[in-house]
Amino acid sequence: MCGIVGYTGSQQAKGILIDGLQHLEYRGYDSAGIAVFDGKDIEVVRRQGKVAELVAALGESDCTGTCGIGHTRWATHGAPSERNAHPHTSCSDNIAVVHNGIIENFNELREDLTLKGHTFSSDTDTEVVAHLVEDLYRGDLLQAVQEASSMLVGAYGIAVMCAEEPGKIVITRKDSPIVIGSDETGSYVASDIVAIVRATRDVVILEDNQFAVATPDGVTYFNRLGKPIEPEVTHVDWDIDVAERGGYPDFMLKEIHEQPRVVRDTLAGRMSGQEIVIDELSLTRQELNFVDRVYIIGCGTSYHAGLIAKNLIETWARIPTEVEVASEFRYRNPIITPTTLVVAVSQSGETADTLAAIRDARIRGAKVFGITNVIGSPVARESDGVIYTKANKEIAVASTKSFIGQVVSLTLMALMLGRVKGKLNLAQTRLLFAELADTAEQIEDILQNTEAIEEAARLFEGKSSAFYIGRDLASITCHEGALKMKEISYVHAEAYPAGEMKHGPIALIEQGFPVVAVATQSPTYDKTISNLEESKTRGAAIIAIATEGDTDIQKVADQVIYIPRVRDSFMPITASVPLQLLARAVAVNRGCDVDQPRNLAKSVTVE
Ligand code: F6R
Repeated sequence: MCGIVGYTGSQQAKGILIDGLQHLEYRGYDSAGIAVFDGKDIEVVRRQGKVAELVAALGESDCTGTCGIGHTRWATHGAPSERNAHPHTSCSDNIAVVHNGIIENFNELREDLTLKGHTFSSDTDTEVVAHLVEDLYRGDLLQAVQEASSMLVGAYGIAVMCAEEPGKIVITRKDSPIVIGSDETGSYVASDIVAIVRATRDVVILEDNQFAVATPDGVTYFNRLGKPIEPEVTHVDWDIDVAERGGYPDFMLKEIHEQPRVVRDTLAGRMSGQEIVIDELSLTRQELNFVDRVYIIGCGTSYHAGLIAKNLIETWARIPTEVEVASEFRYRNPIITPTTLVVAVSQSGETADTLAAIRDARIRGAKVFGITNVIGSPVARESDGVIYTKANKEIAVASTKSFIGQVVSLTLMALMLGRVKGKLNLAQTRLLFAELADTAEQIEDILQNTEAIEEAARLFEGKSSAFYIGRDLASITCHEGALKMKEISYVHAEAYPAGEMKHGPIALIEQGFPVVAVATQSPTYDKTISNLEESKTRGAAIIAIATEGDTDIQKVADQVIYIPRVRDSFMPITASVPLQLLARAVAVNRGCDVDQPRNLAKSVTVE
C-alpha cells in the first residue's frame, strides 16, 4: 500500500527520493509525489499513475534541495488523482506531510480547522495533518507534531517538514511501520527498509507513539512524553540483490526460482538430535501438550497456507484446527480458551486485519504465535512467539516464495505438535522431516522443465474464466493457484473441490473452458479423474498437474504438467510451483504487469 521515503543531508534529495519511491513501487499504489525544500520554499510535484510519470513531470530545475519527503499513495479517502496525491501542504505551504494509514477522525478535525479558516484542497484524510500541524506550530515542529498526533485517531506513519526549520524532518507513527537510518551524507526515513537499504543496513524501527527528528547530522528520538530515548538499532542482513531482479524479467519469476532456497533455509537447524526444534515458540513442551484447539488466522495466500496446515495438524497431532480469514475472525465470537493456540500467518507482518485479530485473540487469553517474513514487523512484535519464514524480502505483489516459507514453517509446527502429543514417533518424524527437505530438490526439477506449463498457458488464450479443481489438499492447492491466476492475469479463476463441480459450477463449462486439476493424491485420484471426465465430456480443456509416470491421465487431459512423486502431505509445496508458473505465463501472454497487478497492494494496512 502507501509508501513513505524521506532524506535530509548533503546530497540532492530528489534522486534519493525517486530511487526510494521506485523501490516502494512493489507495494502497490496509484499516485506519487515529492516535496523538497529549496532553501526558501517547499516545492511539491505530484502525479497520478506510476513513479515514471512523476519522473517525467520533474524537470531538471524542479525540486532542487537537500531535504525532502516522498510518497506512493494507494487511494483510500479520495479517488486516485493528482490533487489527492501526497505530499499535502498547509494553507501557507510551509508545512508538507506524507502519511501512511488512515486518520479516522479526519472529518471532525477538518470541520474544526475549516471553522478556524483553513482551506482544504484535497479529499484526503491526510491533508488535515498538514493543517493541524500548521495550526499548532509555534516555532517548534517537533512540538507541533507531538500535539497534533495526540489529536489523531487511527493508524499513521507520518513524516513532516517545515519551511521555517530547514533540513529537519519530524517523524512519528502508530500502527504503521517506519524505519530510520543514517549514512555519512545524512539521514533517511522510510516505511519499508527496501527503500533505504542501499544507504544503510542499520536501522531503527520506530515504535508506536515515538518521535524522531532527522537532520543532516543524525537523528534524535523521543518517547511519547517527549523524553529523549536511545532506540535499539536493527541490522538488516538480507542480500541487497533481493531488491533487484537479478537477470529475471520480473520479480515474480525470480522469487519463484528462490523457492528451493527458501525450503532449505526454513528447515536449517530445525532437526536437532532427533527432535524438531522451534525455539522461538514461547511455550514449553508441557504447555504445548495442553493445547486442545488451534486457530490459524491470515488473509489471502497466508490463509491458504493455514488451510494446508489444518490438514497436517489434524492428521499428525489430532488437534482440532480452525482456519479463519482474519477479517472474519475478529467480528465473530471465536471459542478461545487458555488452551487454544492461535497462529497468525502474515508475509508482511503488517496486514491490518491480521493484526487486529491477534490483538483480539490475546485479549481473549490465547497465546498467539506469529509466522511472518518481516523481522521486527508488527505481527512479530505483537505475538508471544514468532517463526521467520526465511523467504527474504518479497517484492512481487503476488506471494510465491513467502507462501512456500509459510507452508514449510507450518509443516514444522504440525510435526512438532505431533511429537508433543505423542502421535508421531521418532522414526516417523525423522522420515517426514527428510521428505519435507526433499521438496527443495523436487522444486528444482519442476523449475527446469517448464515447456508443458507454457503449452498449458496457450489453452487460456481468449479465455476469461477457468476452474481449478482437486480433492482434499489438492483442492486447497487449487485455491492458491486460482488466486495467483486472478491476481496477475485478471482471468476469473474459481477453485472448487472436484466433487462439487456437478452441484452447480459445471453449468459454466463450454467448449474450450480451461479446467486446471491437481490430480496427484493417491486416495482420491480415481474420483478426481471421474470429475475431470464429467468436465471433459462437456467440452472443457483440461490441464492436469500429475505425478511423473502417470500416463493414464493423458487420456483425459489436454495438457499434463508432471511433478515428481511426493507424499500427499507435501504435494501443496511442489504442486503450487507449476500453478504459480502457469499464472505468470498466462499473465505474460496477456501483456499484464506481473509484479504490480492493478488495484492490489503488497501490504494491506487498512481494514
Ligand atoms: C496473494 C497475496 C495476498 C496476501 C494477503 C495477506 O498473492 O499476496 O493475498 O497473501 O494480502 O498478506 P500478508 O501475508 O502480508 O498478511
